[in-house]
Amino acid sequence: MREFPTVRPRRRRRTGALRALVREHRLDVASLIHPLFVVHGSGVRREIASMPGVHQLSVDAALDREVDEIVALGIRAVLLFGLPATKDAVGSENYAEDGIVQQALHRIRERAPDLLRLTDVCCCEYTSHGHCGILSGETVDNDATLEVLGQVAVSHARAGADIVAPSGMMDGMVLSIRDSLDDAGWNDVGILSYAVKYASAFYGPFREAADSAPAFGDRHEYQMDPANVREALLEASLDEAEGADLLMVKPALAYLDVVRAVRERSTLPLVCYNVSGEYAMVKAAARAGWIDERRVVMEALTGMRRAGADAIITYHAKDVARWLEEEA
Ligand code: PBG
Repeated sequence: MREFPTVRPRRRRRTGALRALVREHRLDVASLIHPLFVVHGSGVRREIASMPGVHQLSVDAALDREVDEIVALGIRAVLLFGLPATKDAVGSENYAEDGIVQQALHRIRERAPDLLRLTDVCCCEYTSHGHCGILSGETVDNDATLEVLGQVAVSHARAGADIVAPSGMMDGMVLSIRDSLDDAGWNDVGILSYAVKYASAFYGPFREAADSAPAFGDRHEYQMDPANVREALLEASLDEAEGADLLMVKPALAYLDVVRAVRERSTLPLVCYNVSGEYAMVKAAARAGWIDERRVVMEALTGMRRAGADAIITYHAKDVARWLEEEA
């Protein structure tokens, strides 16, 4: 191999055009997924204190305006989370025909038919105890929860979901949802599995946004131990075998090695979730004037792509879309 002074990598960094020519990874607006929190009521646009710029929205003109803005920026996919009117032990609104997510799906399809509609399929926003499934005593009953998840997925499909995204980390959830969807005639509705989801402190602000903090205990019995990566490969391969169409690793920033490991083992498209706590930290530091928000966000998201993510779920989606437009 030739060495210095013949080889000078700096020659390729001399101008912006040169750097762009040899750039290995790019952010692209088509790979962004924008999360939305929908609530009952009218004219609601309530900002989440720990997530500046993110709002709970009622399913009326408030949601329409947000959807219009998202579409105008070229973003092509949203992920819906719902806050029900009332919570109970099984989370009945989760699969109700007129549930809040179902209403939002109809409205978005009407307003922006080409915008991809993804839905979070989980119980924690809907259950009075805030856990991700049906309780048996103080633990989540895996197989009883699967039945509910199937019903939720089918009701989302009926209301217009393109892709359902189970996030409860129940064993067998992908197979069970696939069967439920197929039995109901929805074999073209896809499954994005939160296959590798860690029990993370980075979900803190989300639990305010979605009102989904567990009333007792924590989620360590179903979400993964942050120390594990071999187990992530097992989770990913099980979900792939069960019929997942896309896989997710969550959170993103502290788990980029996991993104890379899954990327190298699976041929499925891979999504990572740049979660609420990651967003909140950037926002707080930017507000204090301690970091350059735009550069930090672009660097972090580029890192997720470099690690192997095809798509990124992020609360920064609108800002990133704007910045990409400016750069173009
Ligand atoms: C569960 C769910 C959570 C998130 C997405 N889906 C929270 C949890 O597992 O406690 C977190 C997303 C974020 O922090 O941005 N339905």
